Formats: sequence, structure tokens, C-alpha cells
Amino acid sequence: MSTIIDVQGIEKKYPGVIANYDVNLKIESGEIHAIIGENGAGKSTLMKILYGLVAPDSGRVLINGKKVSFKSPQDAMELGVGMVHQHFMLADNATVLENVILGSEPTSTGGVIQFEAARIKLLEIAEKYGLNVRPDQLVSELGIGERQRVEIAKVLYKGAKILILDEPTAVLVPQEVKALFENLKELTSHGLTIIFISHKLDEVLAMANSITVMRSGTTVASVEPKNTNKGELAKLMVGGELPKRGDTSTKPSDEPVLSLSHVSCLAPDQREILSDVSLTVHKGEILGIAGVAGNGQSELIETIMGLIKIDSGTITILNVDISALTSREIRDSGVGYIPQDRQRDGLLMMAPLWENRILGHQSTPPISNGFWVNKSAAKIDSERIVKELDVRTPSINVMAAALSGGNQQKFIVGREMSGDPNLLIASQPTRGVDVGAQSLIWNKLIEARLSGMAILLISSDLDELFNLSDRLAVISKGKIVAVLDPETTTPEQLGLAMTGEKI
Ligand SMILES: Nc1ncnc2c1ncn2[C@@H]1O[C@H](COP(=O)(O)OP(=O)(O)OP(=O)(O)O)[C@@H](O)[C@H]1O
Ligand SMILES: [Mg+2]
Repeated sequence: MSTIIDVQGIEKKYPGVIANYDVNLKIESGEIHAIIGENGAGKSTLMKILYGLVAPDSGRVLINGKKVSFKSPQDAMELGVGMVHQHFMLADNATVLENVILGSEPTSTGGVIQFEAARIKLLEIAEKYGLNVRPDQLVSELGIGERQRVEIAKVLYKGAKILILDEPTAVLVPQEVKALFENLKELTSHGLTIIFISHKLDEVLAMANSITVMRSGTTVASVEPKNTNKGELAKLMVGGELPKRGDTSTKPSDEPVLSLSHVSCLAPDQREILSDVSLTVHKGEILGIAGVAGNGQSELIETIMGLIKIDSGTITILNVDISALTSREIRDSGVGYIPQDRQRDGLLMMAPLWENRILGHQSTPPISNGFWVNKSAAKIDSERIVKELDVRTPSINVMAAALSGGNQQKFIVGREMSGDPNLLIASQPTRGVDVGAQSLIWNKLIEARLSGMAILLISSDLDELFNLSDRLAVISKGKIVAVLDPETTTPEQLGLAMTGEKI
């Protein structure tokens, strides 16, 4: 193998933050190279520098031994460096083929787009690398795993030889993760080089040929999976031990906090999106919802939060029927809500962090005194969240957009748990956070459960579901198909139930 990317002494500063300094690493041609590190360690910044989105303040990047200075991602692409974006970069109402050729349309001399030639080229790429994509399918009809394959096909189509993936597995279910890694292996067997960021140490150890660890903006170690283990990687990342697990021994009470009884809900086209759903979350209980993405999880949350109206059945919180209440009224009755998509539903990216403390909490103490919003209370409580959840930020006055993804998530978790709500709806609460922050959030949830909070946990992370849930409800095609005891269920059994098999 030869070195394909050589990063030497890269530095990048933002106001009040050193995002990257003294970053050094070598990436060998044809390998799968994982980058790991705590939230805010500088991983995404480094990737953005490599694919031309951000220019470093100093330092050098060599590709095949030659110094490069990219002014844009197009420049990077010309030298074969491509970024595989997550699903939201594709145009929904266009076909796979249209999306793939967007920006590099092959035209004949008359300027007519040559779809046939493009189709053949795409199918050749798909065939060569074992990527299952269907050129004429509308992107809106694709699942997340397939959208990701289209993103990969798109950069390959443009001629990428080095693929960068930032947390590609965060949004995938276990089966899709497996398929993605098979695809990536296939790509490397054809000589391509893969760089990926992940917080999941198990998959990093299983998949990568080498691992670079970043901490506080710099590269601290470069290791090979065969010479290391999870505990050692975690230590390298956080520079110390992980937090210890909280107490989970107590049993939940039998007092119901959230009850859904025979809830059904139709889409505008009369398709049933929730079908006769009954479930109860008790005081001091964590009820986990497991399911393959897109089986009614979002709709379940949206009905509870009053965002979509139900067609039949009842929903009560502490014995009060909430089905006619607005979302605001439901929150005000003591419901915390950690949404799945933090950037879209959880934050105002261009507002300072302390203003984001107010979002969704305008009418509850300490933010509201009954009449108006108390800004200084919002600031004081933001400082508390930053401290308690170890949110890495220069201050509470920076915009939410300036925080790294995992740190945005920690802030939302802190906000939604403030004031000890009766019920917490936690959708993917640790998506994109590092292992240290994950144990911190897990412990917060366990503590809250211990003090009597009822928690509805929706997660695609099976470890998370098994570690935290008192009971596991499995949702498939809008129905609760099984309620399992995590103590006596294996991950394989849960996987089968999720895909709709009887167990
Ligand atoms: N556009 C920006 N403006 C200001 N600060 C930024 C900007 N982008 C990143 N930062 C800061 O640079 C540091 C590194 O951020 P980066 O996004 O690279 O972290 P990361 O390792 O990818 O973290 P995560 O695992 O949470 O995604 C963070 O402190 C972040 O707040
Ligand atoms: Mg990042």
C-alpha cells in the first residue's frame, strides 16, 4: 500500500474555538480508515478540509505526494475526493438516475442530456461494486439505506477514488449497516479508499483497517484494530475512564402516565399509518419502541405530541384526555420531547444557544413567570445545561450552528429534561453523540426514571434499547406486534420481531 492522503500540521480556528490544530495523519490507498473522537473533537472539520468545503488556516494536505489546495468540493472531486452525504442531499421528486447525474450531465454536441448513456454507466458502476440501485425509482420512494447507496453511486459516477463518509451508520438499522459495510469492502477491493467517522466502536473495530483518534482538535493516536480494544479506544478518546452505569434495579410503579388505547390514524390517502395501537408507560418506567425505520414510529410520536390528529381511540396523560389539545398545551402539561431530527425540529440554528433554551418552553417556568419570557432565567438555565451535560461550547452566546452535532444533541437533551417533566418522549436521544456523552445521557435517563419520570424511548440503537428499557414494544407497519422483556429476549429475536416475524 502507498500513502494516498498525507495530512501535515493542519490548523483551523473559529471565533473562540480551535477546531483543528497539529492534525497529522496518513491514509493508505485501498484501506478503510476510521476517524473517531469525542463530540467536538474536530472530525467533521477535518473531513470538510479534505473535501474542499473548508480551507485550513495552516498546514498541508498531500494527495499522492502532491500538495493540494482546494477552493471548493469541485476541486477536490477533480482529484478524486468525494463526500457521501446522508439522504437529505438528494432531490426527492427526481429519479435515482436524475439525482446521480445532477451536476455532471453527459450531453451530446447539441446539448441534449444523454440519459441512455448515463443509465448504462450507472448500471455498470452498480454492477461492478455490487451496489443495488434502481435507476428509474423515485428517490421519495426509497428507504434510508438505499438513498445512501444512491449517494455513494453518485460520487462514484463522478469518478471518486477516495470516499469520505461522516457518520454513515448513525441513521441505519443493523441490517443496513451490514449491507453498507459489505459495499464498502467491495469498493476497497477495487482499489478505492474509504474514510469514515463513527461513534460506534464495535463497528469501527470490525470494519476499519486503521483508526485515527482525535481529541480536543488534534490527532492523538493512530492504531490498528488488531492491536486495540473498545476500552482502550474509549480511553484514548476521552483521556480517562467512562462514567459508571447508574442504578437500574428498582421496578417501575403501576401508575400509568401515558396511555394509548386503540389509537388508529389514517394518512390523507386513507392508508392506515397507526393501527389499533394500545400501550402504557408507567411512572418510573422506560418503555422502548423498537422497529425498522418508517414503520409508524414518527407518527406515534406526532400523535402523542398533538402534531397529527387521531381518527379513533384515546390518548391520556395522567388520566387526562389530550387528543384535542395543541402541541403547546401538551408540552405545558409536563411533557419533554427530544425530536429525532435535531436540526429541523429541535433547534434554531442561527439563534444563540440561550435563545434555544426558550424554544418550546416559552410558557413554562423558569422561562415564563406566567406573563413574559424571562431571558435571564433562560441564560442561567442554559449555563446549567452546558455544565450538567458537558456541552462543549465557548459560551451560551454562540449560535447553535457553531456547535458540533453531538453537542447540539446534548443541549436538547438537557433542555427537554429540565423541570423534570412527567413524561419524556426521547427519539434517538444519543444519535451522533460520542461514547462518553452516550453514557452520560443514559445515566441521566436512568436517574430520571428512578425519580419517577415516565420515558417513551424510540431508538434504532439496539444496545440502547436493551440497556435502558423496562419493556420493549415492537412496532411494524403501524401496529404494536410484540411487547418483550429485554431480560429474556435476544437481539436476534428482537430483530425478527422488527421485521414482522412471529417469535
Ligand atoms: N462553522 C463553525 N463555526 C464555529 N465553530 C465551529 C464551526 N464548525 C465547527 N465549529 C467548532 O469546532 C469544533 C469541532 O467541531 P466538529 O464539527 O469538527 O466536531 P466533531 O468531531 O465532528 O464532533 P461531533 O462528533 O459532535 O460531530 C467544535 O468545538 C465546534 O463547535
Ligand atoms: Mg461531526
